[in-house]
Amino acid sequence: MAKKLLELPTVDERLQSIGIIMDGNGRWAKKRMLPRSAGHVAGAKIIQKILEDLRAMGVHHVTLYAFSTENWKRPKEEVDGLMELIYKYLDEVVIEKIKTDKDFSMCFLGDKSVLSEKLRSKCIEIENMAKNRPFVCNLALNYGGRDEIVHAVNAAIAEGCNPVTAEDISRHLYTANSPDPDLIIRTGGDLRVSNFLIWQGAYSELYVTDTLWPDFNREEIVKAVNEFYKRKRRFGALDPEDAGD
Ligand code: FPP
Repeated sequence: MAKKLLELPTVDERLQSIGIIMDGNGRWAKKRMLPRSAGHVAGAKIIQKILEDLRAMGVHHVTLYAFSTENWKRPKEEVDGLMELIYKYLDEVVIEKIKTDKDFSMCFLGDKSVLSEKLRSKCIEIENMAKNRPFVCNLALNYGGRDEIVHAVNAAIAEGCNPVTAEDISRHLYTANSPDPDLIIRTGGDLRVSNFLIWQGAYSELYVTDTLWPDFNREEIVKAVNEFYKRKRRFGALDPEDAGD
């Protein structure tokens, strides 16, 4: 008998924005004695399903860490393979999705100037096709949190801000149009943020699972969301019930 698909819970205004560090493709491939590239291909295949589930739950912004400013240090063959895979995903999946689904749009976070001409034009084409629809996927591509903050501070200075305030910086981040992530999920088990949304994630809840990205699925999403709702978010303040002590 076919396995019944787990029902999705609905989220509320407390969980509107999620960031995901998609890690573990290489280990997934190694476990199967496959080349790392096979792990990336398997990782790319599940992206759309995960986005659909998050959207069906009522999440409006999902930021995916696809390629960091540090990932250029990997062997050229792996970098070229990843870039080709990302291009293929954008060209074959995302363009079609934006055409057929009027609720879906995609933005890119990161410095596009060092991407290949072909990839850069695809990103720009996608951003110009649709903006700020009810569901926005931010794809972090050649993205680094430190690099983003430096870029934002310089943009604020160029605009004449003196002194530069936290609001000025937020306004110039690549994510200026998206709310800060309420939850950051990391697959692959490592307990670090790896330069991902370091400004925006200052008060995000972190959820780390040992599950490798290509194995991430609906059950895993539900676990992460249930865990989020168990957390008490205080944003540096006290719980109202403790405030009188
Ligand atoms: C790291 O796994 C994952 C990445 C380099 C980023 C995520 C990339 C994908 C999901 C594939 C393609 C992306 C798109 C948008 C189509 P790793 O190689 O660091 O894994 P490891 O820690 O097991 O070595």
